[in-house]
Amino acid sequence: MSSQTKAIINSKIQYKSPSNIAFIKYWGKRHRQLPMNASLSMTLTHCHTITEVEFVYSENGFYLNQFFLDDILNLKFKNRAENFIDSIKDEIPFVNKYKLNIRTTNSFPHSAGIASSASGMSALVMCLLKMEAKLNQTEIDLQKASRLSRLASGSAARSIFPNFVRWGKTADTDNFSEDFAEEIVSLNSFPKLMDTIAIVSKTEKTVSSSHGHSLMNAHPFAEARFKQANDNLKDMLSAMHENDLSLFGEILELEALTLHGLMLSSSPSFVLLEPNSIAIINEIRHFRESSKLPLFFTIDAGPNIHMIYPESIKEEVKPFFENSILPLSLKLIEDIQGTGPELLSEVYE
Ligand code: PMV
Repeated sequence: MSSQTKAIINSKIQYKSPSNIAFIKYWGKRHRQLPMNASLSMTLTHCHTITEVEFVYSENGFYLNQFFLDDILNLKFKNRAENFIDSIKDEIPFVNKYKLNIRTTNSFPHSAGIASSASGMSALVMCLLKMEAKLNQTEIDLQKASRLSRLASGSAARSIFPNFVRWGKTADTDNFSEDFAEEIVSLNSFPKLMDTIAIVSKTEKTVSSSHGHSLMNAHPFAEARFKQANDNLKDMLSAMHENDLSLFGEILELEALTLHGLMLSSSPSFVLLEPNSIAIINEIRHFRESSKLPLFFTIDAGPNIHMIYPESIKEEVKPFFENSILPLSLKLIEDIQGTGPELLSEVYE
């Protein structure tokens, strides 16, 4: 790393970073956010966080001065961000010379099972690493961005990269890392996918994903699950390489229902699905049966249903969404496979 060459007294860096939807689910972790199985996701576009970090030169060392969520001071998120930055100070020593003000806003409801921690934490890390890169006159190291994002929230490791992203190993011997995620470039000939999210509830999750992960430690099905996820990942990758949408969709839905099955069978057990989540699943399956169109679902840690389909059938599925899914939902969010974090603005003084 080159030495710091130019003092910056004040700067504002703004990044937009997307959420991602897991196709193969990360559920269960060890040490500091290392996954018990490999996962695969699609980076989104419209579900994103915009974060601006202001760096003010400070003689008093690092502290987080203010944290605004949607223009309102938020103490809970301030503490979370401050503890996180504190915990990675050795990795970004420049931060010891700054006090920070953070402003962040999500394009979608947070804590409702769309990965707001993935977009939020990756946006924050990109701002931090942009400042580091500016001071060191280098480029952002994306593997480092993914690794540091992972330390804040496992799924955030995947939001750093575009398109289809893998994180973790399916076997000790494979060459992928557990420390950071990477784009699966070989999947770029797979049809471009859309994700229309049926928002079933906007209320905060009753069980945090960290608690959910921890329940996997003593889960009676844990070992079988970790093996199943790794096998599913390999099978899904083969299906995608062979453009086999129907096998892709079968594994996608199995993963979603398995995730919720693990929640239902953990101790204590919990239920995140709502009656309308189940109704939507049934509607999708009936529609697929009758239309023969490749429309599938997946679900994250929440009640909302992500409807996954190739962009090429967008117009054909629209009437189904409007007539059959919207009446069961609060609203629909249309999203599409995306290109990863974007620098929106940078000002240095
Ligand atoms: O990144 P976390 O700790 O919020 O966990 C995410 C867990 C799931 O969203 C359910 C699955 C995944 O791989 O994103």
